[in-house]
Amino acid sequence: MKNVTVIDHPLVQHNLTRLRDRETSSTEFRRLVGEVATLMIYEATRSLAVGPRNVVTPVGKARGTKLTSRVLLVPILRAGLGMLDSILQLIPDARVGFIGLKRDEATLQAITYHQSLPASAAGYEVIILDPMLATGGSAIAALDLVKARGAKCVRMVNLLAAPEGIQAVLARHPDTQIYTAAIDQKLNARGYIVPGLGDAGDRIFSS
Ligand code: PRP
Ligand code: URA
Repeated sequence: MKNVTVIDHPLVQHNLTRLRDRETSSTEFRRLVGEVATLMIYEATRSLAVGPRNVVTPVGKARGTKLTSRVLLVPILRAGLGMLDSILQLIPDARVGFIGLKRDEATLQAITYHQSLPASAAGYEVIILDPMLATGGSAIAALDLVKARGAKCVRMVNLLAAPEGIQAVLARHPDTQIYTAAIDQKLNARGYIVPGLGDAGDRIFSS
């Protein structure tokens, strides 16, 4: 599917299955979210720009590279927080912005309750982090906010995605690059991904 990368690496799929398992404890779930996020970010950052950097090793000169992209990570509160720390281990210089969104469980509409983003996101490679892309309402609200700050093409890393959410996001923001570990079957009547993994925020934070 155009603009959608399904990361089928065996380690990602192994750990995703453990995340899906309802017997997995919150402690283990939280650890696994971080681990899968780390693996997924490799793929999501594959096209970041690099420039030359030459260094001297203990035995000679080496031509090398350095990242020239400025990365802005935007975890969607709450559940996206579960992905942040492990990704920051890999991209310690990344800037971090936050968007707080809560899905109204009756209407499934995303309600924005917090945002702290740079005044301009224009110079950044923006990566939105959220374990779940369900109806797409939260993702669209987040994309609207970062685009309003000047972000251009935005990447999203979602552990799981529903076909309905992908379609909705790409209809509104066709230039979004979506990275996910699986596209599940459908949404149920309550807007949950089937088979999914349940409520990601509740499982991460033992709510
Ligand atoms: C979950 C999830 C996404 C959203 C996806 O968050 O982390 O942000 O639902 O659903 P959508 O695609 O239908 O908008 P939730 O609103 O439950 O908040 P939480 O992270 O605080 O639990
Ligand atoms: N949010 C979740 O946490 N899980 C779903 O399945 C859908 C939305």
